[in-house]
Amino acid sequence: MKARIIKEHIYWMGSVDWDRRLFDALIPLPEGTSYNAYLIEGSEKTVLIDSVDLPMADELLAQLDGVSRVDYVISQHAEQDHSGTIPQVLEKFPEAKLISTPKAKGILIDLLQIPEDVFITVKDGETLSLGDKTLKFIYAPWVHWPETMVTYLEEDKILFSCDFFGSHIATTDLYVIDEGCLYEAAKRYYAEIMMPFRNIIKKNLEKLAPYDIEIIAPSHGQLYPRPSFIIDAYHDWVTGAPRNTVVLPYVSMHESTKLMVDHLVSALVERGVRVEQFNLAVTDTGKLAMALVDAATIVVGTPTILAGPHPYAAYGVFLANALRPKTKFLSIIGSYGWGGKTVETLAGMIPNLKVEIIDPVLCKGVPSENDFKVLDVLAATITEKHKEHDFH
Ligand code: FEO
Repeated sequence: MKARIIKEHIYWMGSVDWDRRLFDALIPLPEGTSYNAYLIEGSEKTVLIDSVDLPMADELLAQLDGVSRVDYVISQHAEQDHSGTIPQVLEKFPEAKLISTPKAKGILIDLLQIPEDVFITVKDGETLSLGDKTLKFIYAPWVHWPETMVTYLEEDKILFSCDFFGSHIATTDLYVIDEGCLYEAAKRYYAEIMMPFRNIIKKNLEKLAPYDIEIIAPSHGQLYPRPSFIIDAYHDWVTGAPRNTVVLPYVSMHESTKLMVDHLVSALVERGVRVEQFNLAVTDTGKLAMALVDAATIVVGTPTILAGPHPYAAYGVFLANALRPKTKFLSIIGSYGWGGKTVETLAGMIPNLKVEIIDPVLCKGVPSENDFKVLDVLAATITEKHKEHDFH
């Protein structure tokens, strides 16, 4: 795709990656993604903000063919999906200096072996004049590495936000048109890479609050012509109360655990609690991550196998522990054959979760009528706890 104009002398560059289906060999990308770079031509200096993932280098370099000079390349974040083509850009424009935070400088040298003398490091709040345009660099750690910064173009009120507020979505729309569709992609993205750093994200939101922002231009996905849409969503995800929802990731081998899951789901729904259930043998883990953003309670369903939880259940619990959602309660249900340490093993895997454990329900073999009654008690307990906390 060719460069696209955002405003006079401000261009989107980069690449729309329609076919990518996995990020970090981990995160599902059902809608592809994009790597956004931005060219700003001031009256005296020209800058390129970020680059693209290395496999897309040719596309960015072709877009830069018509550009006579780049004075600065700004690396807001050292991860290779944005920095991967910086060495090629510097080769194309040998006069250019590379601007980054001091922390990013070290990482860029480690990852891309960029010579040290190319760098200019900037302090938090430092500005750079391009003549008739001014860039302000604002440190925004953990969106999504510790070295990250965002860049505010003062005269045009554009925030180049890097991963912050991004979404993995491939589209020809430069701007967000359908906020409903975008909401899901952005929430999925937040869940997967921002949620573990929720407390720092909150500080970053507070830091950006005084700025008058007309457009947010992230490094993945579309630009926001109505920034309050995504800023309000982030406030809700970061600081909003959990919802009256149970997330129920489960796996079943011979249907006994599935019978328990079905009964518990029905019992919760009868009592007015929403449930999002995920069969871990087939689920999209990004959907599970997204559900964890708001849920008040997690119930893990697993059979006992080789004396412990099923590996898929262990993976689901490992993921929840790594993502650190604001969940308040957790329980475990499942069937076993003759013994094992399923509960102890899973309980030892959640040091990051600040949850109250509700008594697990394990049954021997196929669940009996009495086991179903115990599941009813679990549903009633969860319902009562949600009511006590006024979760809606
Ligand atoms: Fe899109 Fe953290 O890189």
